[in-house]
Amino acid sequence: MKLSPATLLLTVTGVSGAAISPRHDGKALYFLDNNPAGASVVALQISEKDGTLSNPVRTFTGGVGLLGLTGTGAPGMSDTTFSQDIVVVSGNQLFTVSPGSNTLSVFAISPTNPSTLTPVGAPISTGGGDFPNSVAFSHALHLACVLNTGVKAGVACFHVDTRTGVTPSGDFVPLPGINQASNPPTGPPNTGSDIVFNPSSTALFVTVKGDGTNPGYIYAFPVVGDKISAKGVVVSRPPELLIDFSISFFGRDDTRAVVTDPAYGASFVEVSYPSLEVKVTKQVVVANQGATCWSVFSERFNAVFIFDGGNPNVTTLDPATGDVKYTIVGPTGKGGSFDSIASGKYLYVLQGAAGISVFSLEGSVGAHKVPKLVQSLELSGLGSRQGWMGLAVYPN
Ligand SMILES: *[C@@H]1O[C@H](CO)[C@@H](O)[C@H](O)[C@H]1NC(C)=O
Repeated sequence: MKLSPATLLLTVTGVSGAAISPRHDGKALYFLDNNPAGASVVALQISEKDGTLSNPVRTFTGGVGLLGLTGTGAPGMSDTTFSQDIVVVSGNQLFTVSPGSNTLSVFAISPTNPSTLTPVGAPISTGGGDFPNSVAFSHALHLACVLNTGVKAGVACFHVDTRTGVTPSGDFVPLPGINQASNPPTGPPNTGSDIVFNPSSTALFVTVKGDGTNPGYIYAFPVVGDKISAKGVVVSRPPELLIDFSISFFGRDDTRAVVTDPAYGASFVEVSYPSLEVKVTKQVVVANQGATCWSVFSERFNAVFIFDGGNPNVTTLDPATGDVKYTIVGPTGKGGSFDSIASGKYLYVLQGAAGISVFSLEGSVGAHKVPKLVQSLELSGLGSRQGWMGLAVYPN
């Protein structure tokens, strides 16, 4: 084949673009199976054509799961880690934890077959912490930080280098707001929920649920050099935030985020800089909500989606005002809505039953059209739903 100069130019442009957005021949969705008999990541192929899911593939983390206890003294049938962001993807890397082994696992994602995960070294101890349940990664800092919410509760960070592997960064940072007497922890109250970097990677945020009576905690650690500063920590306890669950920043905006609260719905918060203080700008009380725990921001669809573990319907908020824009009708007979993620034109929702829903977001901006369910994938063939947590997408 003879290539015209124009074709060559396009080819060269494509190759140089690869450094920013890696070339890929597929898309995949991942969740963690927090199974005490062996923790694993389940990957599902995402159709390039219509966003639907197929072909589950399981990869073991090398550690074991552990089921958090509820007030009854027994684990629940879902949300067994009380958290968001237990699986995250950045570039060609996937990060997750094994709550029963107190380890972080890092995998390389195959760009040609993203359901294939290759461990980057052995699982690494989460700094002596117990019951890791959420992980954050900053590409800019090459830094992964893990939230632990057992008896030894706190944050452990790791430098991640594609050549030298995963090594501890700084000391374990205790979180005194979490007060657990034994492992596994009892929740959801009094447990850590979510750990995230702000969009510019200048600070790390951790949400901790209150004890059921008093407000929860938001810890903000400034980034100094390529590490988080434990000394510089700022603790905010806005009175509106009771059972602080997920925190999701609004795209590239360091100052605005949503914090879900299963006590009533969600709150929009504002982060001040350089003080790192967090205050509530709008409390969103969702009528008849059961347990609003997870959240997703979509810049493309100008929406904040919040997910209720007791309801398959998804409440959608206007990012500017916090008003309800619309409610997406979820599937019936599949339980409530758990960890979720938006990718391309689609929204993926882990259900309370063994399944994942796919909603098409196309047309949901401006025209008052509500996203539609396009697939309700049945996954009971994979075994017990109890340990399933987290949702992440490659490429993201
Ligand atoms: C979900 O929304 C539909 C449509 O408004 C409604 O009929 C249904 O009762 C809702 N489900 C729940 C559990 O609230």
